[in-house]
Amino acid sequence: MLSYRHAFHAGNFADVLKHSVLTLVLEYMTRKEKGFYYIDSHSGAGMYSLADEYAQKTGEFKDGIAKLINQQDIPEALIDYIDLIQSFNAPDELDYYPGSPAIAKYFDRRQDSAHLFELHPTDIQLLTEYCQRWHKSHVNQSDGYQGVLSLLPPPSRRGVVLIDPPYELKEDYPKAVDTIIKAYKKFATGTYILWYPVVKRELVEKMQTQFTQSEIKNLLQVEYCQLNDTDEYGMTGTGLFIVNPPWHLNSQLNEILPFIKAKLGNSQSHFSVTQLIEE
Ligand SMILES: C[S@@+](CC[C@H](N)C(=O)[O-])C[C@H]1O[C@@H](n2cnc3c(N)ncnc32)[C@H](O)[C@@H]1O
Repeated sequence: MLSYRHAFHAGNFADVLKHSVLTLVLEYMTRKEKGFYYIDSHSGAGMYSLADEYAQKTGEFKDGIAKLINQQDIPEALIDYIDLIQSFNAPDELDYYPGSPAIAKYFDRRQDSAHLFELHPTDIQLLTEYCQRWHKSHVNQSDGYQGVLSLLPPPSRRGVVLIDPPYELKEDYPKAVDTIIKAYKKFATGTYILWYPVVKRELVEKMQTQFTQSEIKNLLQVEYCQLNDTDEYGMTGTGLFIVNPPWHLNSQLNEILPFIKAKLGNSQSHFSVTQLIEE
């Protein structure tokens, strides 16, 4: 079953949180000269046109990136992300939104490499085209969970792994955590970012329990909810688990989230940043 297309959701509030964290992590990784692996288990198409029928049909980006792109009072920790989005667009326009592979490409140096997995027949084609002239990118039409495990540890012992499943199947929740637990056994110093939607609170709580019962150390959890928990509306919030985050990510998130809430939120909106497992 492969019905999910990220083109419907590109630039929504969940992408804003996920991609601002990805930007902060990748910016931190490039501070050291030594190269690193970027591994994206569920890559999507790479780049999205916000003028196309998918984005226009849902209009989700209008309640996400569109409300931030032209703000004057951007907090320092969010500046690189906003600059990055602007770099793909003409001044004062918002026609394109980069997916996670495009964000990785923005930071790419000759000593780094990107390993991208995608299964959808249309999105793999778009991703392959997008990456055509990106020499150190490796696009694979195969299962991303297995792909992550097959590549660890990276030769340079430096790596960022993004796990961003569609959660069309409930199995994705435990499977994504289980993949990180297995990956950590092979490469305990890597940075792992796991995205999740808040649709049913108990599924998120089960992921937390799975993590806390594992041998993983240094786990940060960040969550931003547009609405209070309810089973009525689908995704009411979004979150990320980050294993081995850059040391200042916690304080950067505490700078970014009040701004996101002020610009995108309503009276029910709330956020949290929690060190779920200490170092
Ligand atoms: C949420 S989207 C990815 C968005 C992308 N990471 C971004 O941030 O721009 C999830 C993608 O995973 C793909 N997918 C689903 N199951 C997969 C699997 N087992 N392995 C690799 N890709 C998969 C879907 O086709 C979809 O394009």
